[in-house]
Amino acid sequence: MRIREVRNTRSLAYEVRLVDGILDVVASEIAQAAGGRQLLVVTSPTVHELYTRRIVADLLRSDVRTSCLVIEASERRKSLDLVEDICTFAGREGVDRRSVLVSIGGGVCSDLVTFAASWIRRGIAHFRVPTTLIGLIDAGIGIKGAVNFRGRKSFLGSFHPPEVAFLHPAFLATLPDRHLRAGLSEIVKMALIRSSALFDLLDSECENLDACRFARRDLDSDEILWLAIETMLDELEPNLFESVSYERPVDFGHTFSPIVEAASEYTVLHGEAVAVDMALSSTMALHLDLLSPDEHAEILGLFRRLGLPIASPLLNVDRCMEALEAAAKHRGGAVNLILPCGIGRTCCFNDDCAFEPGFLQRALCATQEAAG
Ligand SMILES: NC(=O)c1ccc[n+]([C@@H]2O[C@H](COP(=O)([O-])OP(=O)(O)OC[C@H]3O[C@@H](n4cnc5c(N)ncnc54)[C@H](O)[C@@H]3O)[C@@H](O)[C@H]2O)c1
Ligand SMILES: [Zn+2]
Repeated sequence: MRIREVRNTRSLAYEVRLVDGILDVVASEIAQAAGGRQLLVVTSPTVHELYTRRIVADLLRSDVRTSCLVIEASERRKSLDLVEDICTFAGREGVDRRSVLVSIGGGVCSDLVTFAASWIRRGIAHFRVPTTLIGLIDAGIGIKGAVNFRGRKSFLGSFHPPEVAFLHPAFLATLPDRHLRAGLSEIVKMALIRSSALFDLLDSECENLDACRFARRDLDSDEILWLAIETMLDELEPNLFESVSYERPVDFGHTFSPIVEAASEYTVLHGEAVAVDMALSSTMALHLDLLSPDEHAEILGLFRRLGLPIASPLLNVDRCMEALEAAAKHRGGAVNLILPCGIGRTCCFNDDCAFEPGFLQRALCATQEAAG
């Protein structure tokens, strides 16, 4: 037998830029980062009408070789078919190894583009221009892309970092309220797992966020946004490829939520399902004496004031058990359930007592009662 081991490491760096003020600068920033490379822009119909048409026109006016594909990037259609559509578009436009895919839109759009960019010619560069709150603080700043496959949420995907993520809170001015709230849910998640300072800021600013939409740079809302982004990046950076550990605090709220999303046929938004999951997980933590009654009340109180759902009729014991089984498959064989053990702190729970139908039933009922 002869063995020759092959080893290599690939360093990775990408930039996340939070940009002040007006949207007029988006095209010039993209053009500058492109440095003469061909741009293949992918966007969704609403975002195209509101923003992308103008951005593409500006890029063409500055002589950047740019073409644009508009796709129905909705959660229900987030499948391989759309990734193929992007690949077909790229082929038609003469994509080469230096071309750059650009996603302008929400997390669905950037997930599809990330996936397609990792496939095309075994990996081309991509830029992200997130236009939703989830995009700004979560989907747009990590390195993952994914599609749903045969009823399984994010079953197929890849790790493929963007070259740059351009974050402009000004896009949020037109974001529907429901989607704004869904993004707030992920910010609450970051606060609960890592930053009591962020929790306190959310608590004091929650009445203003609807109106200001993170656009008034003098307000605490700016601090909330940047703290949420930094907290997320601090969490992701040491375990970007999820290869170091399956015990990921950012999985808080992401154990029971996929099944709520799927059971609703994706009419419940990701952030809404995450809120329902966080509320249930917080009640489980209360019943396990990891969280005090005051902390539990404070958490659910913030959910209410932010207009986030606390319970869902779609979540029952059977579905919870199914979700725990799926989580174990995804997380190296153990459930690794992330539970809050205070505000800004989590623990990774693998004790079977939390996964018994009777325990789950009690936690579901208590959460339902708290929801009123
Ligand atoms: N890859 C990751 O790390 C990661 C992380 C979190 C979430 N995600 C994924 O992101 C998706 C959710 O993303 P999302 O919440 O951005 O939803 P989304 O992409 O579905 O966008 C929400 C809706 O808002 C519209 N929209 C977008 N920007 C707008 C704007 N500025 N004004 C008006 N309308 C606008 C879109 O057209 C869409 O209809 C889920 O599929 C989730 O799995 C991925
Ligand atoms: Zn999420």
